[in-house]
Amino acid sequence: MAENQCDALVFFGATGDLAYKKIFPSLQAMIKRGTLNVPIIGVAKSGWNLEQLRERARSSLEHHGGIDAAAFARLNELLHYIDGGYEEPETFRQLKAALGGASRPAHYLAIPPVLFATVVENLAASGCAPAGARVIVEKPFGSDLASARALNRILLRNFTEERIYRIDHYLGKSPVHNMLYYRFSNSLHEAVWNRDYIASIQLTLAEDFGIQGRGAFYDSAGVIRDVIQNHLFQVLSNLAMEPPARTDSESVRDEKVKVLKSVRALGPADLVRGQFRGYREESGVAPDSKVETFAALRLQIDSWRWEGVPVYLRAGKCLPVTCTEVVARLRKPPSVLYPTSHQNYLRFRIGPVTEIGVGLNVMDPNETGVGQMTELLASRHPGANERDAYERVLEAWRIVEPVLGAVTPVYSYEPGSWGPAEAAAITPPGGWVDPVVSGESR
Ligand code: BG6
Repeated sequence: MAENQCDALVFFGATGDLAYKKIFPSLQAMIKRGTLNVPIIGVAKSGWNLEQLRERARSSLEHHGGIDAAAFARLNELLHYIDGGYEEPETFRQLKAALGGASRPAHYLAIPPVLFATVVENLAASGCAPAGARVIVEKPFGSDLASARALNRILLRNFTEERIYRIDHYLGKSPVHNMLYYRFSNSLHEAVWNRDYIASIQLTLAEDFGIQGRGAFYDSAGVIRDVIQNHLFQVLSNLAMEPPARTDSESVRDEKVKVLKSVRALGPADLVRGQFRGYREESGVAPDSKVETFAALRLQIDSWRWEGVPVYLRAGKCLPVTCTEVVARLRKPPSVLYPTSHQNYLRFRIGPVTEIGVGLNVMDPNETGVGQMTELLASRHPGANERDAYERVLEAWRIVEPVLGAVTPVYSYEPGSWGPAEAAAITPPGGWVDPVVSGESR
């Protein structure tokens, strides 16, 4: 085993939604690839036993990617389970015993953020966090700037910076990485990627489903905290950053921070919030909830490259399709010759399939002088593979901080629509490009 490889994987929240949807499938995939072969200890307070957790893992895999007989059998062998509250010392005594002599355990906190501090303090107090231990924290990292700072202080009291992993699963999506590769390996692209050529940029993260039983969590978050401050800002950073000195994570991180530092904090006039009809009847949601399930917002990046190029973001639940996509429109050339030609665009689809497309004008082969839009598809492949700090997180909070909570009204919208009619106030020049999704795998 490599010197710095973990020798036990502990995941808190073992019976929860994230474990069900993402963690068990990842564990099986890692075992199959041969990159995971250490005890896996699930912790939760559900009154379950190990057999029940194994059943949960089976069901998770049946619904998310399928069972690989050999890898699943190995997962069952490696899996342990501790049932207990996160505030109870007894839970951590049992964990210490289960860890045996592990000196480099990785503790993965797939739990509601309000519990992060309690678990981290208890890990340290119980001796479950030896010098070689690491902690992996799922988003959301805090619920605003102050709580993110407080959480960071607690983490740093108990773990050194290089032993803290702040996870945003968008970082692990290959099309999000591909954006950087595409940008910095194609002179054709990078030459136009600036305020001289780009007229506007829009990002859509649309989901055609609701909150799927996560009412209690969602009602404490809303779409800005759930996916905009983190996932969409990750995508935005990759779109807007300068070339990093190298491709290592610190060089890339530094450039991302620079982008976020250049983004003006939002004001109430920069966004419209919506809530789908029926949200307040969901279990765990307050009957008078003002939490947004949709938001459209306009950002300004005050940088040399991007000044004056508006960036539009929208995200929501119960929209017409499930799709994450970026569209950047280019300025039109002088219109003296062909005034009816369209703006070129560049399109990155991040999910459910990966696509990179470039929109160009060509002449209609049947009618001289009449143009039509065509799209060159540079890349298309199914699925978005998911396998990858502090300053970045804080900058992202600084931008959304002024509009968190009930600063602006929440308008209701029909499930299956593109948000409330009032969202028209935040519309990119030339309009939103609504992703068309047909028969794509999820
Ligand atoms: C999660 C959010 O972080 O990201 C969910 O909590 C959202 O509400 C999900 O559905 C979207 O991720 P993906 O990978 O399905 O686009």
